[in-house]
Amino acid sequence: MRGPAGGSGGADRPDTPHLVDSFGRVATDLRVSLTDRCNLRCTYCMPAEGLDWLPGPEVLTNAELMRLMDIAVTRLGVTEIRFTGGEPLLRKGIDDLVAGTAALRPRPRISMTTNGIGLTRRAAALRAAGLDRINVSLDTLDPERFVRITRRDRLDDVLAGLRAAHTAGLRPVKINAVLLPGVNEDEAVPLLRWCLEHDYHLRFIEQMPLDAQHGWQRDRMVTATEILERLSGGFELTPSRTPRGADPAERWLVDGGPGEVGVIASVTRSFCQACDRTRLTADGALRNCLFSQSETDLRAPLRAGASDAELADLWRATMWAKLAGHRINEAGFAQPLRPMSAIGG
Ligand code: 5AD
Ligand code: SF4
Repeated sequence: MRGPAGGSGGADRPDTPHLVDSFGRVATDLRVSLTDRCNLRCTYCMPAEGLDWLPGPEVLTNAELMRLMDIAVTRLGVTEIRFTGGEPLLRKGIDDLVAGTAALRPRPRISMTTNGIGLTRRAAALRAAGLDRINVSLDTLDPERFVRITRRDRLDDVLAGLRAAHTAGLRPVKINAVLLPGVNEDEAVPLLRWCLEHDYHLRFIEQMPLDAQHGWQRDRMVTATEILERLSGGFELTPSRTPRGADPAERWLVDGGPGEVGVIASVTRSFCQACDRTRLTADGALRNCLFSQSETDLRAPLRAGASDAELADLWRATMWAKLAGHRINEAGFAQPLRPMSAIGG
């Protein structure tokens, strides 16, 4: 693997249909943001007043999205599609999108990252449409802390949504938790105990500089090392034996297993060298990294009548230009122009 300053060095892109980059990585996992809107206002993501949402005409229609996902699966070798937001459940016609995705061949695995609100009504239909698994964001089990973190009093809705997802047969039901100093950092052990009891797979995510307010501070984040220290106070952790592959989470067996816990140390132990992701925003911009400073507009060529082959080539060229890593830990790091809620997690 070449170092961060490497890049393609002018090398030509190999003649392969797949989404390769100049460091030899192959993107097979497509993240599709369905909307930049959200019904929560998590402090590490958005300001209290929300953001200037994308105007409706700029958002890809379901038909446009289906066309791009079809190109990704049939021409570019994408095998996994994850719907994200903002909050993807706010998107109209999401069952149709899931069903359409499940009808692509070869059928991709289909997952969703959601805050869980609305899942009580939606989980069974989503499962029937072809959704395979789900990730729900939940940082605390305490209603007051939930309000402090998300600025909305919706903990009960999220918990009910989780139960509905499990009952509907979505597997695994994963939980993403961000620990914040002085707010919920003492919940590492109770959250894990609760997740093990409920058959939810818990992963802690280090807070990343992706908030719209640019409030992230390195010395105000709970690191993977601190998370593991806290967990070790309640459990015996041993490294999981299943191969990590492109999983961003480092996984640990809890008290000898079979229960596990994951830690996604995006900042302090980055996993960019194994990244297999390509991202599409709700307004049709392709991104080769959460943190990239540039993106490729697919919407304009799509609406101007570009062919599938032309769109596929734009996609390949975008991925070929992917940098080695996110550079959060380097001097001069700049946050991406879009916040997380407009990129998709
Ligand atoms: N740092 C880490 N995780 C974040 N998420 C949202 N913003 C951040 C951030 N700044 C999480 C959400 C959700 C997933 C998409 O990413 O909690 O689980
Ligand atoms: Fe919404 Fe997710 Fe951002 Fe929270 S982190 S405000 S749930 S998009």
